[in-house]
Amino acid sequence: MPTLPITKENPPTAKLACVMVGLPARGKTYVARKVARYLAWLGHHSRIFNVGNYRRETVGAKQKHEFFDPKNPKFAKRRMEVAMTALEDMLNWFEHGCSSLDIPKPNGPQSPSTHWPTTVNGKNAGGAGAGGAGWVGIYDATNSTKERRKVIYDACVAKGIQVMFVESICDKQDIILANVKEVKISSPDYVGWDPEKAVEDFMTRIAHYESAYQCLGPEECDGKIPYVKLINVGDQVIVNKVRGYLQSRIVYFLMNLNITPRSFYFSRHGESVYNLQGKIGGDSDISPRGEAFAKRLPGLIKDNLGVETRLTVWTSTLKRTRQTAAFMEWPQVQWKQLDELDSGVCDGMTYEEIEVRFPNDYLERDEDKYNYRYHGGESYRDLVQRLEPIILELERHHEPDHSIMIVGHQAVLRAIYAYFLNYSLEELPYIKIPLHAVVKLTPKAYGCLEERFTVDIPAVDTHRPKGAASPTLAPLRKLPETTDQRMSTSQLDGPAMVAHLPVFRSMSSLEADRTYASSPRPSTLEL
Ligand code: ADP
Ligand code: F6P
Ligand code: PEP
Repeated sequence: MPTLPITKENPPTAKLACVMVGLPARGKTYVARKVARYLAWLGHHSRIFNVGNYRRETVGAKQKHEFFDPKNPKFAKRRMEVAMTALEDMLNWFEHGCSSLDIPKPNGPQSPSTHWPTTVNGKNAGGAGAGGAGWVGIYDATNSTKERRKVIYDACVAKGIQVMFVESICDKQDIILANVKEVKISSPDYVGWDPEKAVEDFMTRIAHYESAYQCLGPEECDGKIPYVKLINVGDQVIVNKVRGYLQSRIVYFLMNLNITPRSFYFSRHGESVYNLQGKIGGDSDISPRGEAFAKRLPGLIKDNLGVETRLTVWTSTLKRTRQTAAFMEWPQVQWKQLDELDSGVCDGMTYEEIEVRFPNDYLERDEDKYNYRYHGGESYRDLVQRLEPIILELERHHEPDHSIMIVGHQAVLRAIYAYFLNYSLEELPYIKIPLHAVVKLTPKAYGCLEERFTVDIPAVDTHRPKGAASPTLAPLRKLPETTDQRMSTSQLDGPAMVAHLPVFRSMSSLEADRTYASSPRPSTLEL
């Protein structure tokens, strides 16, 4: 479903064009995708307009380096036309909430598979942060000359759209070559090429751009432009004239990004007494089976650590996560932010009790689980805002030999998992995170590798599918009988997950550019 149209009832609270700048293989697309995912996760609308994709669609993917030579007037004109098509598309998106990317192509990928919630339970809904939901278009291209940047700036400003440039500068040849080998030679531009020849061609393409590249400067666009320059992957960050909520959030996020290879481990607490009784919330102890899992956890982690020699375990402040981590000898940190979704007046009830005592609420939650806020408690939307510092801390983490393991809760881990694996806000509250399983996530250039490890200690299934009747307490469903066995998820088409090999979750660039979006700001907002 395309992004929701802009209507009187659903006006954008802020429109921001984030314009990437930089030579090829400087991480622009990587940064664009990270920012888009982060903003969508926070509840904003974001969409990437990647000029390379427009070029592939209009002039074809197989262009040799000559096509990028600024001294060739025919190709320079063609490239400018493609850039303007992408710009127009972005301006249309800002104005109408949809762009040419929403039109299904007969043989191409169809319009976004993500289905954003269209109804918002006003009373219960929460906001997307200060100022509500903004619309952020990310214009992903080299934009390597002042002239090109001025055209983009003027076109946006004429339509009342704020502009912020994000320049990535990198002179570390080892990083550039690694980037070319990691993502460029496997791009659609080099299908069927010999890898060495593809590297050579791409390096020549970079040289063409270098011959005309103009770094961003404060004097550009009448000296008014807000920009952020990332130098050598965050060794230095230069910020110029950045004001406003969304811009500041993006800059802060960018300052926390790093590309060090690393993995994170996630597990729910061992089965709790409340889980056995079908009750939600509370602060109960773990059950005997939960304790058996807790005892097996250190060995399970040790057996599956990669290059990591150190680990820090993060728990919530609730007993069930602390008891689960009790047998782990690694340093531990308790985070209040990691406490389970606050179910307010329903805390300590079973789903059956909620259905009887609050039938309307029970239905409302089913209709729009992401936005439904428990009376006196939280919604998933609230939870995501609360977890933002955790996400930034994970992004900031940059020691490959030192990993972080989170022992958390069902709703909390859904939110964190959705951030890394780019689930829509509608899918997020239904993601299956079973008890007694450890998820290992390894972020990669354009996606995330996922592995799962389970132990043969059964636990109740606390997952309640959308629209399902209240789960009965018995017979309690068991996890698959696997013995310290690797399983992983195959999550390309939905939240149900059971498989047995590591899975890499990513998206084709076209798909990625179409799928970042989010639900609108609720009209009656309680911040
Ligand atoms: P571009 O869009 O500039 O051509 P890409 O985003 O396709 O480059 O390059 C992806 C690679 O860039 C990834 O391997 C990622 O690790 C790396 N990367 C991410 N951020 C940066 C950065 N700030 N500087 C240099 N490389 C980066
Ligand atoms: O049932 C375990 C639990 O962690 C509860 O404490 C919490 O309210 C619930 O899961 C969250 O899951 P859902 O949003 O599906 O009700
Ligand atoms: C491209 O065509 O891949 C591209 C990034 O275009 P430009 O350099 O014109 O922005």
